[in-house]
Amino acid sequence: MPAAKTDAPRFVSLISQSTPRAMVTAEQALSDWRVDGDGDLRVALNMIASVDGRIAIDGRSAALGGPADRALFHALRARADAVMAGAGTVRIEHYGPIIRDRRVREQRTKEGLSAQPLAVIVSRRLDLDPALPLLDDRDSRVVIVTPASGDLPYCRAKVDYIRTASMRTALAELHESHGAHLIVCEGGPSLSASLAAESLIDELFLATSPQLVGDAPGAGTLLSGGAPAKPLSLELRMLLLHDSQLYARYISKG
Ligand SMILES: NC(=O)c1ccc[n+]([C@@H]2O[C@H](COP(=O)([O-])OP(=O)(O)OC[C@H]3O[C@@H](n4cnc5c(N)ncnc54)[C@H](OP(=O)(O)O)[C@@H]3O)[C@@H](O)[C@H]2O)c1
Repeated sequence: MPAAKTDAPRFVSLISQSTPRAMVTAEQALSDWRVDGDGDLRVALNMIASVDGRIAIDGRSAALGGPADRALFHALRARADAVMAGAGTVRIEHYGPIIRDRRVREQRTKEGLSAQPLAVIVSRRLDLDPALPLLDDRDSRVVIVTPASGDLPYCRAKVDYIRTASMRTALAELHESHGAHLIVCEGGPSLSASLAAESLIDELFLATSPQLVGDAPGAGTLLSGGAPAKPLSLELRMLLLHDSQLYARYISKG
């Protein structure tokens, strides 16, 4: 990936396999992440929550994050084959092209990746506006995972469909037909709960925002609306600190 900008947030690395207690950029902290695996399908959930586990303030996640969280968010996107999100998140967060920085797209191409990761939207109702910046971008490739039979109206982006209600089937198809090995899922909670219910979360990147939100309307939790049959056990592999925000990487213990 391109060298970090001089004003890029620096993190204290509290736990890391390669650089213990060092000051690192988001790119350095994640430098080994893509190669950390054997090319099998991996799903990494990336979310942010308040200290009391709430995932939105006034219906949006933006107020929980900041520049450091965004640096890690973009560093994960930069290394992904596919970036997946539920239709609710795509609509609320007004998704645009996944990688906006031209330097990052060029670097991906040099590394043999597609300039843009595949964008994957999971939806039952297919109520997605073709004017959404992501769907309106002719350089983006989008896969819609849906059990529905209809199509979206014409979009400038290249749109394909995976017709299934099973996230396991959808992920297998993304892997086999679209060459996606490393999939970053950006939520929201309904989609994350669907993945957790089928034990499909291989790792979790969790930013913890130093705020107490409480039981405000729409504040939600990481897996609102569902639950795995039994709690998923996680192992902590990385812990970064920036100001009072923690950023953890957990691996599923299966
Ligand atoms: N803190 C964070 O990291 C974070 C991340 C993302 C989102 N959020 C917040 O989460 C809130 C949105 O929550 P949400 O639960 O509505 O988000 P969501 O999971 O992104 O969206 C829910 C919608 O996604 C589709 N969907 C989800 N699971 C599906 C499945 N298994 N099969 C088919 N379609 C599926 C459905 O779309 P259709 O309605 O099109 O049928 C469903 O209505 C917002 O406040 C957002 O800001 C927070």
